[in-house]
Amino acid sequence: MEKTLSIIKPDAVAKNVVGKIVDRFESNGLRIAAMKKIQLSVSDAGKFYEVHAQRPFFGELVEFMTSGPVVVMVLEGENAVSKNRELMGATNPKEADAGTIRADFADSIDANAVHGSDSLENAKIEIDFFFAGREVL
Ligand code: CMP
Repeated sequence: MEKTLSIIKPDAVAKNVVGKIVDRFESNGLRIAAMKKIQLSVSDAGKFYEVHAQRPFFGELVEFMTSGPVVVMVLEGENAVSKNRELMGATNPKEADAGTIRADFADSIDANAVHGSDSLENAKIEIDFFFAGREVL
């Protein structure tokens, strides 16, 4: 069993497709171990995406992630990290396979509907960033 972090980004929250996205996870063997809707501050988003701080898209990424509420979740299941990434599809929705979350709900590489941890090691760091141990059930 693995745990991974998922974020439903401001574009998908604004489109009111949170339930449809959660259904993709639940219908594919992942369980919601924690979930909350929050508004990220510039400081939160900057810290969360610190690894991208030197990338040219960092400013736009922070601006977008703070443009409206997000839903953050801990997903649990067998191979949860890779399963979540498979369900999300490629970062750029134009390259995402048909039937993936990003192919179906995302508009652009910035407004790409969801974030998912890219490794088990980062999943732990990202889960701890958003949730206290007692919130993960
Ligand atoms: P995410 O998985 O949340 O991780 C970093 C985000 O930066 C990524 O999804 C994209 O939404 C955004 N981004 C914008 N431009 C790029 C790019 N050229 N390469 C990777 N990520 C990008």
